This record gives sequence, structure tokens and C-alpha cells, in this order.
Amino acid sequence: MGRKRVFSGIRPTGPIHLGNYLGAIKSWIQLQDRYECIYAIVDYHGMTTPYHPAEMRANVRELLIDYLAAGVDPERSILMVQSAVPEHTELAWILGTVTPIAWLERVPTFKEKAEQHPDYVHLGLLSYGVLMAADIVLYKAEVVPVGEDQLPHLELTREIVRRFHHLFGVRIFPEPQALVPQDTARIMSLTDPEKKMSKTLGPRSLIALSDPPEAIREKIMKAVTDTGPSGERMSPGVANLFQLLKIFGTEEEYRSLRAEYDAGTLRYVNLKRTLADAIIRSLEPFRRRRAELENDPAYLERVLRDGIRRARAIARETMAEVKEACGLLRDEPGLGEAGVAAAAGSKAAGEQAPEAVERR
Ligand code: TRP
Repeated sequence: MGRKRVFSGIRPTGPIHLGNYLGAIKSWIQLQDRYECIYAIVDYHGMTTPYHPAEMRANVRELLIDYLAAGVDPERSILMVQSAVPEHTELAWILGTVTPIAWLERVPTFKEKAEQHPDYVHLGLLSYGVLMAADIVLYKAEVVPVGEDQLPHLELTREIVRRFHHLFGVRIFPEPQALVPQDTARIMSLTDPEKKMSKTLGPRSLIALSDPPEAIREKIMKAVTDTGPSGERMSPGVANLFQLLKIFGTEEEYRSLRAEYDAGTLRYVNLKRTLADAIIRSLEPFRRRRAELENDPAYLERVLRDGIRRARAIARETMAEVKEACGLLRDEPGLGEAGVAAAAGSKAAGEQAPEAVERR
């Protein structure tokens, strides 16, 4: 028996930030020891919100560099680009035929995105979760490390799996479980600390892992602290800065600044200076590794080619099973002709006709 599989992905819509890192990628790195991991750049999902085609390819490349610089190890894990493995969309189509529209209309991210971009509500946005389910089950992944906001998508994936199994009378896919990191609280936006750090709130609201030191310092120094009248509770902005200091600063830095806060003597500028230094210091190795990778396009290409090849080998096997279950022609190398022969009514395939599937 091989190791259990992990699958996760990020949309190539801009550089990854501290929220992505602490919320997901940090656990991706650790999972590599125990699982066979597949980490994708989900460019088809990136097309569901408005984007510039000219920026897409550069974003894919930057995200690949981010993955590698953060510690995804291409020797152990598979790094791939979703659109390069056509089985993702093939399986999404098939899963789409067993997914009631009502399930998709209930997904919270669908409603949010539809409100955010009222002129951009399309079939692909509605079926976002079907493609995501296909991403995961194509590799029979059992564990999916994601942020908390993705839980409804994982629930949908399990529902689709159950319905597929029920309708076709097979058991092909495991029901995947989300893995949401428990130890790190949510990292909030620097400009709008009531909201989660996210690309949609703009570059000033987040610290990208690839930000140069000056940019990190500037964004932290301008971070929102007290928004309203100071009450008894720490304001969300200040709490977020302390949260970050706890992660990136030394224990001593955290303890002494926290004591000043409790004593009512803290000057926020000191908290911010210390925090900016701590983040810059912590991201230094990442920045160095990133610069090396930027200068090695041949290596990047090798990593991607290899990842796509390995991903496709798994994807083909799953699709053969799925097509068999659905009564579709099989297109596995060597089986294609037998499949066509069976469809043409010849006995060459030496198989029984699949039983009729009772639909709905
Ligand atoms: N929906 C995820 C997000 O926005 C990205 C994603 C697409 C994904 N397919 C996936 C995550 C499969 C995990 C597994 O963050």
C-alpha cells in the first residue's frame, strides 16, 4: 500500500501572503513527511473571477516559485498546474451531471463572489465546487489542507462523492477530509482588521511572502490600530499585530510589549517597529531562496514537467475507473481499441454490458 494522498491548491491571482502561509502552506510542508502530496496551481479556478490573461502566466510562475521557496519539495511532492492535466475538467463534467444545482447555489463563496462581481456571474462560478471536487477525487486524496473558508467546498465534495457512488453503484473515491490548522488563529487584514487577510482587499492590506523589506516595514507602520474609542478589549487591529508578533517575534519581544500594553504605556510605533523587524528577519531565507529560483528558469521548467507527468499518470488511472463505471469509452493506452470495439457491439472487449444506471 502506498502512502495516503494529500491534495491542495491555490488560485494564481497574486502573490501568496502571510494568511495563506500560516493558514495552509505551512501545514503542506509538514504533510510531505507522511503523505504523497499533490500541490496544484489551480489556474482554471483563477478564471472564475475577472482577470487579465497577460498576467495569468506570470502569476502561475510566481506561485510556483512561492511554493518552492516556502519548502514544497518536488522530490517528494507533485507540483502541478491544473490546466495542464485535462482530466480535471473531464472529471468535473462527469461530476457535474450528478450535482444538483441547488447544492451549488447554497455554497457561501458562490453567493459572496456573485455579490462582489454582479456582472461576472457565470456557469463556471456556479460549478466552482464541482471542479474543486474533481481536483481532489481525481487523485483519490484523503486529506485536503485548506483554510477554514473552504470547509463548505469540502462538504460539497463529500456529498458529490456519495451521490456518484450511489448512482453508479461503485466505490471509487475516498471521502476527503479538510485539515484546517488549529494552532494559528486567523491573520486579519492590516487595513481592515475585522476581515481576514486576503488578496481581494488589495496589496496594502497584506504582507506577501515576496514583499521586499521596505514594503513590509511600510505596510506594518501604516497598519490600522485603534479604530474606535478604546474600550476594555484590545481592538482587532492591535490584536492582529500582537498575534503576528507572537508568531514572528521572540518570546521576549512579545512578553515585554504585551506587558507595556497591559500597563497602558505601549506606544504603537514601538510595537510596529519590532514587528516589522521580526517579519523581515523571518522571511529572509524565503527571500534568498526566491531570488535563486528566479534565476533558474530551467529548473522551474523541469519541476513542472515532472509534476505534470506524475499527476497525469495518476489521473489517467482514475479516469479509466470512472469511465468504466459510467459506461463511457475507455481511452487508456492499449484499452482504447477494445473500448471502441465494445461500443461498436463486437465481442472483442470480452465484457458484459454495464448495467443500466438508475438515474434519480
Ligand atoms: N478553492 C480553493 C481556494 O480558493 C482553491 C482550490 C481549488 C482548492 N481546488 C482545490 C483547494 C482543491 C484545495 C483542493 O482557496
